[in-house]
Amino acid sequence: MKAIIPVAGYGTRMRPHTDHVQKTLIPVGGKPALSHIVEPLFAAGIKKITFIIGHLGQQVVDFMQQYDGQFQFIEQKEMLGLGHAVLQGLVNEDEEVLLQLGDNIFDTNIDNFITSKANRIAVAKVDDPRRFGVVELDKNYIISFHEKPDNPPSNYAISGLYFLKSQIILKNAIETLIDQNITTKNEYQITDAFKIMLNQGEIFEPWECGWMDTGVPDTLLKTNKLLLNQYGNQKKSDFITPPVFVGNNVTMINSIIGPNVTIMDNSTINNCHISNCVILENTNLSDKELSHCVVGKNGSDIC
Ligand code: G1P
Repeated sequence: MKAIIPVAGYGTRMRPHTDHVQKTLIPVGGKPALSHIVEPLFAAGIKKITFIIGHLGQQVVDFMQQYDGQFQFIEQKEMLGLGHAVLQGLVNEDEEVLLQLGDNIFDTNIDNFITSKANRIAVAKVDDPRRFGVVELDKNYIISFHEKPDNPPSNYAISGLYFLKSQIILKNAIETLIDQNITTKNEYQITDAFKIMLNQGEIFEPWECGWMDTGVPDTLLKTNKLLLNQYGNQKKSDFITPPVFVGNNVTMINSIIGPNVTIMDNSTINNCHISNCVILENTNLSDKELSHCVVGKNGSDIC
């Protein structure tokens, strides 16, 4: 089975970092978000991955060189929405496909997720679902889909992991959106394609699972904290309060670090006090007190 991972977006909510780092390559919990996404797919035996690339796409191509698999990179030339992005990777075959959005990490068993007679959509209960796709449930089935509704019919947000039984059925539904110019917020939405499929009698099951978002600084820092419990590599000392991850070739002088800090490779931290932060690679910081932020360069790139 193949997976499609759309990673074409500008990541505007993670600027200024995303001006020069593709958003899926921003580190969280000790490694780029994309590593947390593809490694569980490989573990589930999914080696064929189509990446839909755009802004800073070559970085994704280069990054994937370290892994073994059959990778395809397709450029989304116009940013017409998630449905349009996914369409670029679909083929005219009655074959299953896994879709995973490039800024979401899941705590779930992918093997179980993809073992189903029906389509499956990962969902999570959230307090305010208005900035997400939302599903309405009846027992164990999804009975309606809504993209970023003003009046959500439930608190179940679509979290960004999808298992579809047939590429061609999904492809036809997205093409129908485009032919009939059906858009939400001016974009061709995958959620609207599911609506068409539902009307055609396709069955969709919800899959409730752990979901870590990396799309905005606040959620990325929460995800960093959660993942560091697993990926932290530093012991407690007078200077370090775990969980903390420190990459290769990092120099720390006269600094207090932690908790919940990721420091990536080739960085220098001199006379700083840092907690709840992600420090990108090649970052040189001196005389700084930093908390709850994502930091690059010499501290000038911060969000
Ligand atoms: C996309 C989907 C939305 C989903 C969300 C999850 O929205 O369109 O249905 O709930 O991802 O992160 P975006 O965040 O790209 O606006």
